[in-house]
Amino acid sequence: MGFSPSSRGRLTDYDLGRFPGDSLFDRLAREVCHAGCLPRKELYEAWETARRVRRLFRGGRVLDLGGGHGLLAQVMLLLDDSSPGALVVDTALPPSSATLHEVLAAAWPRLSGRITFESASLETVVIAPTDIVVSVHACGRLTDVVLDRAAAARARVAVLPCCHDLDVSDDGDLAGWVDGPLAVDVVRAVRLKEQGYRIWTQSIPADVTPKNRLLLGAPREGLHE
Ligand SMILES: C[S@@+](CC[C@H](N)C(=O)[O-])C[C@H]1O[C@@H](n2cnc3c(N)ncnc32)[C@H](O)[C@@H]1O
Repeated sequence: MGFSPSSRGRLTDYDLGRFPGDSLFDRLAREVCHAGCLPRKELYEAWETARRVRRLFRGGRVLDLGGGHGLLAQVMLLLDDSSPGALVVDTALPPSSATLHEVLAAAWPRLSGRITFESASLETVVIAPTDIVVSVHACGRLTDVVLDRAAAARARVAVLPCCHDLDVSDDGDLAGWVDGPLAVDVVRAVRLKEQGYRIWTQSIPADVTPKNRLLLGAPREGLHE
């Protein structure tokens, strides 16, 4: 059996040998193994998303909405120290998010005191125009709430949608030509553009997750093109 990055199995010290190198990814993966609580796919999803977001967006607070373990927020800071800190917001923060953070902060002390976890609904969080809003797999309509809230604040945003609910999501009447979830994501992208955003449509590797469409946007007024 090969080693599938999409596995929901938890990474533990049994997996250490799979990450023997000196790269940041391998070092991160080894710490995640020590934490012993993170599904393997979450490591790859967070890493692949953060890399792409950081190629475009620097500085500003990172706001990880529906953030779960909050690994994405922490990888964002590890890849690029230009953000002062990160806030992870989730209605049901996994208790092991604290374990993971402790392990990562021990390995990278510069993370200490810069990651805040808030058990709250993302509908209530105050977003600043300087923030980078990120959200991986906010299920169904929740991705639309993230996009709407980020756009209302004129913040930069990156979402990796999942669990498209075709009964309640806007498919732009395109589902006769393209599959429903793709139609919904196309409408999301066009809508963001119509709100005065420059958008980027990218993908993370499909072997990490089939829900791999990454939509990024930045308000045009903040861009120096
Ligand atoms: C599929 S999980 C993704 C978690 C994490 N982003 C990841 O990639 O592993 C969706 C997360 O959204 C959270 N969630 C659901 N509704 C929410 C809401 N209204 N506000 C904040 N978080 C919410 C859930 O508790 C869950 O942790």
